[in-house]
This record gives sequence, C-alpha cells and structure tokens, in this order.
Amino acid sequence: MLQQCRRAAPLPLLLAVLALALVGQAQEDEEEKTFEADSGPAAIDVSEYPDEMQQLYKLYAKKCSKCHTLARSVNSEYRGEEWDRYITRMSRKPDSGISPKTGEKIRSFLMFHFEQVDGEE
Ligand code: HEC
Repeated sequence: MLQQCRRAAPLPLLLAVLALALVGQAQEDEEEKTFEADSGPAAIDVSEYPDEMQQLYKLYAKKCSKCHTLARSVNSEYRGEEWDRYITRMSRKPDSGISPKTGEKIRSFLMFHFEQVDGEE
C-alpha cells in the first residue's frame, strides 16, 4: 500500500513538468530559432546607389534591425513578392514600428537592391 502511494504521487508532477517543457519549447521555436542568414554581413554597400535608394536604405537598416540583425534580410534568399509577405509579417509583430507606408518604402528598397544583386550574377 505504502509503495503504491509513493508511485502514484509523482505522476501529476511529471505531467506538470512535461507541460511546462512543451510551453517552453514552443516559445524557443519562435524566439531562438537560428537563421543562417544572421551570420552573414549585416550591411549593404549602397554608395553606388541613387540618392533616393540611399535614403531608403537608412530607413530599412533602422527598422529591420530592431529585433534581429539586419543580416537576416541582407543575406536572405527571398525575392520579389516573397518580400511582400515577410514585410507584412514583420510589421504585424508587436511594437514593430513599421507602418504600411514605411513597409512600402522598405519594399521598394529591397526590390531595387535584390535586382542589383541578381543582375551581377
Ligand atoms: C518587432 C520585431 C521585428 C521587426 C521590427 C522585424 N522583424 Fe524580422 N523577424 C522577427 C522575428 C521574431 C523573426 C522570427 C520569427 C518569424 O519568422 O516570424 C523574424 C524573422 C525574419 C526573417 C526570416 C524569416 C524566415 O522564416 O525565413 C526575415 C527575412 C526577416 N525577419 C526580415 C525582416 C525585415 C525585412 C524587417 C523590416 C521590414 C524585419 N524583419 C523587422 C522580428 C522582427
């Protein structure tokens, strides 16, 4: 009898620990997922770009490095319309500081920039 009690007690505790571990894992997936792009260069040389694009680069570099390094987008494989999706997704995150208008400006910079990148290949 005594032995049975001893075995029964830890079960709810085990379940609680398991539940906490699962919640923790879900949070980690969102925040600590590693992105290969993060380890690449975190800036773009815009010195040869038109003035307008140099201005837009400043906006992009400021807005898109708030939560992760700028490298995550600088070294991204995303192109064209994929950026619409990602810019929208980023701007909807809490406290992104990216309005639809700002998102549109960032988009025009990224479109221009990746055209140059792909053109060189
Ligand atoms: C409010 C914080 C925040 C801001 C501001 C932000 N990001 Fe992110 N970004 C994240 C988080 C968190 C992730 C990882 C989760 C995800 O992909 O949604 C991420 C992931 C990414 C990824 C990788 C997505 C993938 O799955 O491959 C790219 C690319 C990216 N961001 C680009 C940008 C760009 C471009 C901007 C500026 C328009 C930007 N981010 C601004 C928080 C932010």
